[in-house]
Order: sequence, then C-alpha cells, then structure tokens
Amino acid sequence: MNLVHWSNQPIHSTILCMQVHPQKRIVVVNGGGDCPGLNAVIRASVKTAILRYRWEVWGSEDSFDGFIKPGKMIPMTLDTVRGILPKGGTILGTTNRGNPFRYPVKNEQGEVVLHDFSGRVMDKMKEMNLDAMVLIGGDGTLTIGQRFIERGLSIVGVPKTIDKDLLATETTFGFDTALRTVTEALDMIHTTAESHERVMVVEVMGRNSGWIALESGIAGGADVILIPEIPFQIEKVVEKIEARRLAGRPFSVVVVSEGVTPEGGSQVYREKGIADPFGKLGGVGAVVAEMLSSRIELETRTLVLGHLQRGGSPTAFDRLLGTRFGVAAVDLVAAGQFGRMVALDDQRITSVPISAATARQRLVDPSDQMIQAARAVGICFGD
Ligand code: F6P
Repeated sequence: MNLVHWSNQPIHSTILCMQVHPQKRIVVVNGGGDCPGLNAVIRASVKTAILRYRWEVWGSEDSFDGFIKPGKMIPMTLDTVRGILPKGGTILGTTNRGNPFRYPVKNEQGEVVLHDFSGRVMDKMKEMNLDAMVLIGGDGTLTIGQRFIERGLSIVGVPKTIDKDLLATETTFGFDTALRTVTEALDMIHTTAESHERVMVVEVMGRNSGWIALESGIAGGADVILIPEIPFQIEKVVEKIEARRLAGRPFSVVVVSEGVTPEGGSQVYREKGIADPFGKLGGVGAVVAEMLSSRIELETRTLVLGHLQRGGSPTAFDRLLGTRFGVAAVDLVAAGQFGRMVALDDQRITSVPISAATARQRLVDPSDQMIQAARAVGICFGD
C-alpha cells in the first residue's frame, strides 16, 4: 500500500474505497515511437488510479526496460505527472527496439544479438505484486502485449500512433498534432515554392496509410497528394504540374506519403535491421523529385518532415483524447476487462479485444469522401 497516496484521505473515505475498490498495484508502459498526447494518457492513468481508486502506480521507463534493466521501474505519484499535459514526447521515455521477446543486445564483437527476455517481464510482475499493466502502443507494442496476455498477464491497451492506422479505433491521439505540424509546414513551403517557381516535394510519415498526407495535403492546399493506397503514375503528376504552369501557376506543392509506390513499383526503405525486420520507410520523396526533374523544366526540391511530425505540444484534441483514453484504461482494469484496448467509436469511448485491434490496419479507402472532396478541388493523386 502506498502511504503517500492514502495519507491525505479522511479515514471513513479510505475504508469506503477499500471496500469498493480492492487495493491494486498497476504499471504503466509505453512502447514504440513517441507521440504527442502520450503524457496526457500517462497523467490520466496515474491520476485516475490514485484519485478514483487509491491504487499504487508504477511506470516502466523506455518501454519494457523497467522489467529488464535495474533502476528503470519508477513509482508514479501525482507529483510525477504534474505539469506534463502540454508536453510532447513521454516522461517515461520510449524505444522501438525494446521488444522483450526479441531484445537486441550488443555482444563483445559489437554484433547485435536478439535475446528473449520475456521471462523477466513475467517475473518482475510477480516479484513486485503488480496486478495489471496499462500498455500504451501502436500495433507492434500491442502485439507484444497480446503475447503476454496469452501467458496470463492482465493487460489493457491504449492505442497510440500519429499514423491513425489502427482499424479498431476511429482515431488515435497524436494524429491531430501531426496534422497541425504538417499543415503549417505546407503553408510555409508554399511561399518559397511560389517565389522561386519550384516544385516542392514534401515527404510525410504514415507507414502504409496515407492519412497524414491526405488530410494535411487538403488542409495545406497541396496540388498533388500521393498516398500508398493509390499507386501513382509519374506522368499524371507531370500533367498536373504542367497544367498549372500553363495556367500561370509555375510552382506546385507535392505531398508524398512515405509508403507510396509507383504503379508496379515498390516502397522505399531508409533502414532495415535485425531488431526491426520490417524496416523503416523513408526516402521516396527524393525518388519522386528525381522522377519529376527529368520530366519537367521547373526546379524541384525535396523536404522530409521526418520526426518533426512526432514532436511538439499536443493539440487540445490530442490532450482530450489522451485523457479520455487514460481514464478509460484504468476503468477497464477496475472492471477486470483484461485483454481489451480502449477505442473511439463515433466520438464515444469504448473497448475492443487487443487481438482484434492489431489484426487489421485502417487504410484510406480510395473512394473515401475525403478523396472525393480533394479531387473536387483539383488535387491530383497521380492516378
Ligand atoms: O508509426 C509512427 C512512425 O512515426 C511512422 O509514421 C514512421 O514510419 C515511423 O514511426 C518512424 O519510426 P522511427 O522513429 O523508428 O524512425
């Protein structure tokens, strides 16, 4: 029992709380890439667990490292989460090289060798008498969570990704902030594109889904948007840029999602490694710019927005969604609804099995209303 959390409660309410909500000890874990709004989830989970349920809360630093390395499991109090709501990133730190089932360690020869440290997670949960885990992550982290659930751990999930690519939830926190950042960048790129009469190719994140490119492209007034769900033909893009030039607009802004492919072509990766066999997409913006520069007279330049899209203070929407998710996750623990992930459905918080959440990606439907609206205002998708 954590005396710090109990000390300022009147005795009668303490007894009431003990009767209604048996004392629990939970751990908050976040994994994978960081995402604006993560701190809102952490804060809400900690506050709800302490204020509503009088539980004790721990936090695992750098994804699952709290279970694997010494000194990385930290007590979470109201003080720990004070003032973090407007902060980007995560106060727990994170890594996407922290899968306990395939944990990369450098050996004496400097080679990376994968270890299965999943047993350490199981042991530490028992050793610390942790009743449940609130696991915040994208599909990679939630898949790891699912493996631990199958081994008997009590886990509830919170979806996290700027990509908005989890089918089981209408949206994820972090997306709105990324959208704001990219839209502002497109506003800025427009003025220099116009001054220099250039084609500016802006590469954005999103993995296999085109949501960031699509929504920022519309909001930022892009002329061309290329998304993974619609393979492009470079000649169509050239046609659009040329039509603009002939109409007295000798500049264009082309938004390229990192996962795009030309018709019949393949995706471009910047990195593939032993700890991440799926690799990291990146670099297609330069490829598109190169394809264009050999076909048009206007100069082209490439900008990769990269991790800028994951930074910054979360928008009000992401703080709000993160807070609602954090509260709901702890409520799921209280209700014993393990193996489930909080989700947004028609603006209401609900929950779905974690296994279902990781099974399918939310991709842009090429006949989506948003695509139709974009086409109506003259945006070219390269098809
Ligand atoms: O999933 C979030 C995301 O930002 C993707 O959009 C991007 O492809 C990837 O993570 C980048 O990962 P990393 O931070 O490992 O480079």
